[in-house]
Amino acid sequence: MKQMKAYLDNILKNDPAARSYVEVILLYPTVHAMAFYRAANWLYRHNAFFMARFLSQFARFLTGIEIHPGATIGRRFFIDHGMGVVIGETTIIGDDVTIYQGVTLGGTGKDVGKRHPTLEDDVVIGAGAKVLGPITIAKGSKIGAGSVVLKNTEKDSTTVGYKAKTLPFKTEQIKDSIERTTGITEIYNEMVI
Ligand SMILES: CC(C)(COP(=O)(O)OP(=O)(O)OC[C@H]1O[C@@H](n2cnc3c(N)ncnc32)[C@H](O)[C@@H]1OP(=O)(O)O)[C@@H](O)C(=O)NCCC(=O)NCCS
Repeated sequence: MKQMKAYLDNILKNDPAARSYVEVILLYPTVHAMAFYRAANWLYRHNAFFMARFLSQFARFLTGIEIHPGATIGRRFFIDHGMGVVIGETTIIGDDVTIYQGVTLGGTGKDVGKRHPTLEDDVVIGAGAKVLGPITIAKGSKIGAGSVVLKNTEKDSTTVGYKAKTLPFKTEQIKDSIERTTGITEIYNEMVI
């Protein structure tokens, strides 16, 4: 109960839109998502994996926030607005972290084991940012809205922007593409010769 009160007090202190305990308890999806997460995480740690996932999917249905029950989350974690948030299984989140709607703390698809980010204390992740891979967002770092972050950040730094680029075709892809469109492999072989 003490922790719950500290959690609600923190929201009232930091969110200018929050006016009362009743409003925060009834209308803030972060409160609902975290209540379900704490229960789901307990079940996960006691090997009740199906029930843990069931609870977390139910919470997702209610709030639009998907937190894998295996994630490790510290105190006073605040998800503002919430819709479209995804937090992966091996994510570790410290104390006093804030994230906004549309944030993904996910994997790149290339790592096994620890494949999701670690967020140290006092980190802020802006709306829609994608933080991917087993990287560390250092204490006090801010990630700008809409950023895509694939590398560690430095303590108390601000990181913004994304870097999307189309990679040049690889030889095998050219061959596949020619075969798919013409059905003829010889064209590719002649081109290579
Ligand atoms: C990144 C952020 C935290 C500001 O951090 P800051 O350290 O105070 O940075 P500044 O405002 O001084 O901006 C520094 C530079 O980054 C740029 N910048 C800031 N946010 C950016 C973003 N999301 N994407 C790209 N560039 C951004 C600024 O234009 C500025 O560029 P300049 O130096 O060329 O002028 C803030 O802009 C942000 O994105 N907050 C997220 C809040 C959010 O998601 N709100 C949703 C509410 S519903």
